[in-house]
This record gives sequence, structure tokens and C-alpha cells, in this order.
Amino acid sequence: MIKQKDIKIKKIISKHKIQKKVCELAKRINEDYQKKDLVVLSVLSGSIVFCSDIIRKLDVNFKLNFIKVSSYAGKKSANEIRLEFPFNCDVSNKDVLVIEDIYDTGRTLSYLKKFLLSKNAKNITFCVLVDKKVKKCNKVKIKYCGFDVNNEFIVGYGLDFNEKFRGLPYIGVLGD
Ligand code: IMP
Ligand code: MG
Repeated sequence: MIKQKDIKIKKIISKHKIQKKVCELAKRINEDYQKKDLVVLSVLSGSIVFCSDIIRKLDVNFKLNFIKVSSYAGKKSANEIRLEFPFNCDVSNKDVLVIEDIYDTGRTLSYLKKFLLSKNAKNITFCVLVDKKVKKCNKVKIKYCGFDVNNEFIVGYGLDFNEKFRGLPYIGVLGD
């Protein structure tokens, strides 16, 4: 248990385990994306640390781009997703590897899948740092998954709570 300014964080995935997993995932991506026209799309802001570690292990050609979405309360009760800034990357006829922090309810990734298909991406593959054990509202296929975690609020390694804790080198659960 680590105390950060009176907030307790229980480490659940160490820096070492994360780095080992990054190597495993990057190895698989390298094998799968030889001779492909690859666009790596980092979903801001949570995936930034994970994505920057992954791309430094890639030995295939790729273009890096970013997308930021947010959910907001729409007129109906369910949250809706929208882009936070204009997307000007040409994904038409390209293989897109979306790098995301967490596959939680699945709303974000299913929105991104539809969005990228509407931009004529050739195919869309998801790489997530963690898959949370929750009932999914929208299921998508995750090809590359770092870790399965219980339905607890996690921080660190890019993941935040109110913009805090993104810089921790490990993943932890916020205590009470
Ligand atoms: P979705 O429910 O699958 O659409 O996930 C929405 C987003 O919520 C994820 O991409 C994360 O950015 C964020 N999120 C979900 N669970 C956590 C968490 O435990 N810690 C930090 N961010 C989270
Ligand atoms: Mg996110």
C-alpha cells in the first residue's frame, strides 16, 4: 500500500509486469503487421504512456496519430460519446491499430470502431492495457490485451483520477 498525499493506492500491477507485457504485445504486433499500411491511433489521454512504450518496441512501419473522445450526458439517460477535437488523419484503406487504456463498458471502443469505419479504414484492431471485468454495453473484439482487472477504479501508468496519478509507473487501485 502506497500513500500519495493521504490517498491510499494499492499496487496491483508492477512496473516490471507492465514492461514484460508491453514486450509480449509488441512482439505479436510486429509479427502481425509486417508489410501493412499501419496507423497507430492512441486514444488520449489515458493510453499515452502505454502507447509510447509500445511504439518504442515496434519494428514495423507505422504512422502515429491521436484521437480524443469524451462522454457526456445526452438528452436520454445513457452517456453519449463525441470527439473532443477534429480528426484529420487519413485512415482510408489503412490498417488501424487503436491503442486504448481501458475496455470498460465498451462504449468508447464501439464508437471508435463505427467512426473509423465511416472514414473507410480497411480494418480496425484494438490493443488495450486492461480489460475490466464488467458487463459490457457494447462488445468489441480485443486482439491485444494487457491485463484483466476486477471492477475497481484503477490509476497509474497513464490512468487518472481527476487528472491525478497518470505518472505512476505501476497500476494501482484507489483506496477509500
Ligand atoms: P468505456 O466504458 O469502455 O467506454 O471506457 C471509458 C473510459 O473510461 C476508458 O477509456 C477510461 O479512460 C475510463 N475509465 C474506465 N475505468 C477507469 C478506471 O478505473 N480508471 C481510470 N479511467 C477509467
Ligand atoms: Mg480512455
